[in-house]
Amino acid sequence: MTAPLICPSILASDFARLGEEVRTLEAAGADWIHVDVMDGHFVPNLTMGPDIVKAIRPHTALPFDVHLMVAPVDPWLEAYRAAGADILSVHPESGPHLHRTLGRIRQLGAKAGIVFNPGTPLSILEEVVDLVDLVLIMSVNPGFGGQAFVDSALHKIERARAILDRAGSPAHLQVDGGVTSANAASCVSAGADALVAGSFVFKGGADAYASNIAALKAQAPA
Ligand code: DX5
Ligand code: ZN
Repeated sequence: MTAPLICPSILASDFARLGEEVRTLEAAGADWIHVDVMDGHFVPNLTMGPDIVKAIRPHTALPFDVHLMVAPVDPWLEAYRAAGADILSVHPESGPHLHRTLGRIRQLGAKAGIVFNPGTPLSILEEVVDLVDLVLIMSVNPGFGGQAFVDSALHKIERARAILDRAGSPAHLQVDGGVTSANAASCVSAGADALVAGSFVFKGGADAYASNIAALKAQAPA
């Protein structure tokens, strides 16, 4: 099994030094930069607008994996793509026409991701599997970093892996929320190939980012 892609969530970074943080993450071995966009309405927290994504874009060549927790989401797709997002991931609950939203993301030249909250039925994936480049399974209810991993996510990852394999889809399968070195191996065994981690990557300060990322990467089961 290959090592998972590590996608540090800059929600856990020092917002006063975002440019430096993403440069440090790239040097520390991060694969993607996970950007959590929250609107204070779809989720109970408010974070980064497109201008912030644009401001940090020149600081790294890594793909920007933008997780949109915004409703309605459609009016924001173009702005985040123009700001430098490579992947735009949306929750099915964030707009009335998921099929159209995913198509629009690809039309904008970005990769399209679909995000499943712990309470969102995975059956939706069957309807749009050919329209997605990334499936993100939430292992917490979105809104904040530092929450505990919800164990039922593991079975959901397994079920998502089965749907993708059955469809012959090359989409990435990502997990987000409470990921640590203690549960990363279980996520990868269940079928995830990309791990989002905020608190775990940032703990210990900049000098520890590389070893924290390495600790997650090392969890790929033999
Ligand atoms: C939750 C966000 C996650 C979260 C990850 O709404 O989507 O990306 O910040 O942070 P940790 O790893 O601290 O749970
Ligand atoms: Zn996220």
